[in-house]
Amino acid sequence: MNQIEEIRKLKKEKNAVILAHYYVDGEVQAIADYVGDSYYLSKLATTLPEDVIIFCGVRFMGESAKILNPKKTVIMADEYADCPMAHMVDADTIEQVRREHPDVCVVCYVNSTAEIKACSDVCVTSSNAVRIVRALPNKDIFFIPDNNLGHYVATQVPEKNFIFHDGYCHVHKSIHREELLQAKELHPEALVLTHPECTGDILELSDFIGSTSEIIDYATKSAHETFIICTEMGIFFELGQKNPDKKFYSVGHRQFCPNMKRINLDKVLQALQELAPPVILEETLAQKANKPLAKMLELAR
Ligand code: 13P
Ligand code: SF4
Repeated sequence: MNQIEEIRKLKKEKNAVILAHYYVDGEVQAIADYVGDSYYLSKLATTLPEDVIIFCGVRFMGESAKILNPKKTVIMADEYADCPMAHMVDADTIEQVRREHPDVCVVCYVNSTAEIKACSDVCVTSSNAVRIVRALPNKDIFFIPDNNLGHYVATQVPEKNFIFHDGYCHVHKSIHREELLQAKELHPEALVLTHPECTGDILELSDFIGSTSEIIDYATKSAHETFIICTEMGIFFELGQKNPDKKFYSVGHRQFCPNMKRINLDKVLQALQELAPPVILEETLAQKANKPLAKMLELAR
């Protein structure tokens, strides 16, 4: 039996389902039952009948699935796949901002630890942040941890007062304006599709800004045939699957998330064989972290 057949067999035996983010390698996306952006994956996790979720993504994604489904077993395909941005804000900073701005709403990008979610009022992802912030009754918004996404949301919701944090994604920050200008010169016919974790100087050169799923949808529905993609390169797998005749170009050579790329088929197979490592969260923490995530799902509906 080959590796893929073994994965399929074990999935059935263990009543497991494989979820993957668009940034993991194509070979992993190809064997997953569901592939999507952060919002889709967290929403989906609440509807699945299987007892076990094998999560092919970074830790905050597995944690969100566990927080929303405390009774399910959530297994990380790689226990060390973690998003550095998730650790860029701390609880003391949030408390200090709350003291200085008593009416503030703490809006937490889902790329954050369970501890940070537990101190926040509402979670958002890149696909629903604008809609959710606009719908909040509060005027003052403390947007954590991503500075770039926070600034992008602020341009879309100018009626709110934003307090920003200084977190960032090293992958999106390493997409530089000069290289994008070069790519545009090489492919003048291309549309530029960009993730909002990129810096403002990239966003202002973009034709479309959206989450990973939104970028894929936009390219798939567009009559255009050539695109420059400003986000992690794992997305090229699904872009190519859905659009075999269209052309997709990257910007420079750093669109690579080393944490997402830790996951491979060997590790998926091992996770299914051992049902380890599980995501384990202390109960009170999980209950506190559930509130802003549940609020996100309610407001994004
Ligand atoms: P999406 O929610 O757009 O999939 O983004 C997740 C992420 O980690 C971006 O770097
Ligand atoms: Fe985190 Fe950036 Fe990797 Fe997304 S691409 S998981 S934000 S490091």
